[in-house]
Amino acid sequence: MFWRMLLKASIVAALSAFPAAAPAQQLVNGYEPKWWKEAVVYQVYPRSFQDSNGDGIGDLPGITSRLDYLQKLGVAVIWLSPHFDSPNADNGYDIRDYRKVMTEFGTMADFDTLLAGIKQRHMRLIIDLVVNHTSDENKWFVESRRSRTNPYRDFYIWRPGKTAPDGTRTPPNNYPSYFSGSAWTLDPKTNEYYLHYFAAKQPDLNWTNPKVREEVYSLMRFWLDKGVSGFRMDVIPLISKPTGMPDLTAEQLKAPPNAYANGPHLAEYLREMNHDVLSKYDDMSVGEATGTTLAQENSLVDDRRHELNMIFNFDAIKLGRSDFGPSQLGSWSLPELKAIYDAHATVLTKHDWDTVFLSNHDNPRIVSTFGNDSQATRVPCAKLFETMILTLRGTPFLYEGDELGMTDYPFKKLEDYDDISIKNAYKAEVETGKISAADFLAAQAKVSRDNARTPMQWNSSPEAGFTTSAHPWLAVNPNYKQINAEQEESDSASVLNYVRALIKLRAGTLAFVYGDFKDLDPQHPQVFAYTRTLGKEQYLVVENFSSSPVHYTLPESLKAATLLLSDLPDSHEASTSTLNLGAWESRIYKQ
Ligand code: NOJ
Repeated sequence: MFWRMLLKASIVAALSAFPAAAPAQQLVNGYEPKWWKEAVVYQVYPRSFQDSNGDGIGDLPGITSRLDYLQKLGVAVIWLSPHFDSPNADNGYDIRDYRKVMTEFGTMADFDTLLAGIKQRHMRLIIDLVVNHTSDENKWFVESRRSRTNPYRDFYIWRPGKTAPDGTRTPPNNYPSYFSGSAWTLDPKTNEYYLHYFAAKQPDLNWTNPKVREEVYSLMRFWLDKGVSGFRMDVIPLISKPTGMPDLTAEQLKAPPNAYANGPHLAEYLREMNHDVLSKYDDMSVGEATGTTLAQENSLVDDRRHELNMIFNFDAIKLGRSDFGPSQLGSWSLPELKAIYDAHATVLTKHDWDTVFLSNHDNPRIVSTFGNDSQATRVPCAKLFETMILTLRGTPFLYEGDELGMTDYPFKKLEDYDDISIKNAYKAEVETGKISAADFLAAQAKVSRDNARTPMQWNSSPEAGFTTSAHPWLAVNPNYKQINAEQEESDSASVLNYVRALIKLRAGTLAFVYGDFKDLDPQHPQVFAYTRTLGKEQYLVVENFSSSPVHYTLPESLKAATLLLSDLPDSHEASTSTLNLGAWESRIYKQ
C-alpha cells in the first residue's frame, strides 16, 4: 500500500515547538495550567539507548550524544530509568548507592553534562525514585542484617517467621513475590526473615521508621538541588504495608498487588514527602501505581491533597493480562479499551491529572501487542497508537523506540533473556513441572519485559549503531536493517517523521491538553472516534483499529472539516461525513 503522510503545511507551520502556557493561576477549561500537563515525556532506558565506550552497555555519554535527536523529536521531558550504583539484579531497580552513578553508565560528571545538555535544549529531566526497596548491597541493608540490635535493623522489615513442632521454619505469611516464590527470605545470620516484594536482592524498606523517610527525602533533595525536575516513583503505593500483614485470602491471592498497595499510611507518607520536599521545587511527580484501581486514583492525585501530580494506572497497558507474575498475552476488544479511557474521563475531575501510555520498560512493544507488526501494517499501526497516545487526555509518555515503531524480539530460548523475573518464573513454573518449557517460552516471548529492552535501532550498521561491541548486553532485534532511526529520518512517510509532526501539533494545541474528551462511538468494534474540545475549538480524531478498511459515518453533528494529519490523502472521500479509512489508519481533523 502507498502510505503518505499528509500535513497541512499552513496550519502546522504556525505551530510553535513549545506550548503557549496560559498565564499562571488562570484556569484553562477548569484546569490549573502546569508545564508537566503540557509536556510530552520520553522514557530512556539507559542500558539500551546508546553505548559510547564499546562495552555493549548503554551509558550517560551515549544519551548526551543523542540529545539533538530527542530535541528534534519535540519531547519536553526525559524520564531516565535508574542510573544509580547497583549490582543490577533487576537492572538498576536495586539501588546500592543513591548518590552515585552506576559504573557502567559513567560518572557524576557525565550525569552533570547530560543534565546541562538537556537544559540547554530547553528540555527537562526526571529520574526514577526507587524507594520501596533497595539492593541488599545497600549499606543500610548490609548493616541491618548484621545483628538484631544494629541501628539500621529497623530500616527493613524483619520477622521471626513460624516454627513447626519439628523445628521447620516457614515464612511469616503467604505473601508471594512479584518475581515468583515467597516474598520472604530467611537470613541465616540473624535467623529472621526479611520482606522483599520483588527479588531476594531487593529488600523492602520499612517506611514506618521516620529515619527511613528522612533518608529518602534527603536523597530526593540531593537530586532536585542538582537540577532534575522531578521523579517517576517506582511502585510507590507499596511503601505502606497492610496492617499486621496477615495471610492473603484465596481471593486476594488472585491479584496480590491490590492487597499490597495503598496501605493505611500511604497518604500520610506522600503528604509528608510533598510538604517536606516536592512542594519546595518546580517539579513533577508521577507514581507507578501498581495495584491501584481507577477508583483509588483521585486519592493519590487530587491536587487539593498535595500528594502526587499523576500516576500510571495500568488498566490499558495490561488489558487482558495480569500485573503480577508470569502472564499470558490476553485477548481484548476495542470497546474494552475505549471503556477504560471513557471511565478515566468520567472518574477523574478537574483537580486530577492523568497519564496516557501503552509502553515502558516492563511491557512488550505496542505494535506487536496491541496492533499488527506485519510488514504491511506495522507503519500505520505504530502511527495510530502514537496518534491515540498524543491526543487523549493526560500527559503522554512515550518509550524509546516507539517513535520508530520498534517491534518485539523473536525470543526462542531461555538463554535469549536477561530479565530476572523470567529466570525466576522458569524455575518456579517449568522446573517444578507446572507448565512445559515450550508453553512457558511461547507465552513469555509475547509478554516479556525484554521485548522493550533490546537496544535502540539507530542505523543499519552492525548492532544497529547502538554499540561497537559485538556483544551488546541484550541482542539487537534482527529487523534493525529495516527499522532504524537513520532510515526513518530520510523517509517522509516514516513513523519517526509522523511522530515529530504529531508532537508539534499537540504542542501547539492546548485543546489536546486541557480540552474535554468525548468518545463518539463507544461500542464500535473497529473505530475509535473522539473529539477534544476547548471553548470554540474542536478537534476530531478517527482511528481504524483493524487491518481491514472501513467506511465510517460520523455522528450527525460532525464533519471531517480540515485534515491536519493522516497517512493517506482525503481526496478520495465521498463526503465529509463518511470516511474511507485504510487498515490501521488514523486521522486528525479540525472542526
Ligand atoms: C517496577 C519497575 O518498573 C520494574 O522494572 C521493577 O522490576 C520493579 N518495579 C521493582 O523495582
